[in-house]
Order: sequence, then structure tokens, then C-alpha cells
Amino acid sequence: MEDSRVVPVTLTVNGKAIAREVEPRTLLVHFLRDDAGLTGTHVGCDTSQCGVCTVLLNGEAVKSCTVLAVQADGADVLTIEGMEEEILHPVQQGFWEKHGLQCGFCTPGAMLTASYLLSTHPHPSEQEIRESLDGLLCRCTGYETIVRSVQRAQEIMDERRESADRETRAI
Ligand code: FES
Ligand code: FES
Repeated sequence: MEDSRVVPVTLTVNGKAIAREVEPRTLLVHFLRDDAGLTGTHVGCDTSQCGVCTVLLNGEAVKSCTVLAVQADGADVLTIEGMEEEILHPVQQGFWEKHGLQCGFCTPGAMLTASYLLSTHPHPSEQEIRESLDGLLCRCTGYETIVRSVQRAQEIMDERRESADRETRAI
């Protein structure tokens, strides 16, 4: 007999379709961690305040503990595991160069928050960077190095764009 307590859900996570049957109450963060096995998305609170569970859902930064897996059915999700391609993502490179992490617990959420900011505001002011990090709780860095990491990520994005433009012109 069909189990009416579960519903089918299919998400594209980091470019790969993942289909599972889940309880309707399953949160996206638990789908990612427990069903998809992507434990880079962390859980740091049960009050939707810490932001360490942030992922990109159809390109927008969301706290994945505030979304049901069934609400995300059919959506594209990017987690920290999907950020790196052939080389480090500029945000990862920026955090690496400017020491934007200590224990690393908030880092996946911080990086995806930064990635969303830079995709919507390619040249944010320091104030805009600080405001974008408003929903992220970091217990270690005091935020200074995170802000510098985001600023460095923005420079790296510009450098890579200019380099790609130069290569295109040289063809
Ligand atoms: S786990 Fe804290 S906001 Fe999602
Ligand atoms: S680096 Fe430890 S919580 Fe942010």
C-alpha cells in the first residue's frame, strides 16, 4: 500500500537531479543533509536566526531551515559543495586569501550569502556588505575578515572578467 505520509520531491542540487520521497514536514536543510548527503549546509539554531544553513534557491539566498522540501520541489539549489568548478569560486578564493574563517561552521552560509550579494550587487559598498551579513551569526571572526574576504572576492571577480575579456579580444 502507498505510504500517504511521504510525498515525492525532485530537486536539482548542484546541477544534479535528486528525487526522494519525504515527509511533508521535511525541511530543505534536512533534505540536503540527510537525503542528498550534502552535509556542508549546517544547522546552527532552531529559530531561523543564525544563517549557517543558507543556500541559493533558484539563485536567491535563503535560509534552508525556513523552507519545506516540498516547497522547493522542481527548484535549482546551490550548496557549498557546488560552488567550486575547475578553480576556486572567487568567493572561496577571497575567503582563503583574507582568512574569512576560523572554525568554519558559518562559512558555507557566509560564502553563499556573499555569492548572492555579488551576483546582485557586483560592486557593493562596505556598508552593503555588512548589511548583507546581517542574518549570519559568526561566533569566531568578529566579521572584519569576512567583510575583507567579500571585498577581495569582488576584486577577483573583476580580475577574472577583465582577463576573460582580454582573451576574447585576442581571438
Ligand atoms: S539553522 Fe539557523 S537560520 Fe537556519
Ligand atoms: S568561523 Fe566560526 S562561526 Fe564563523
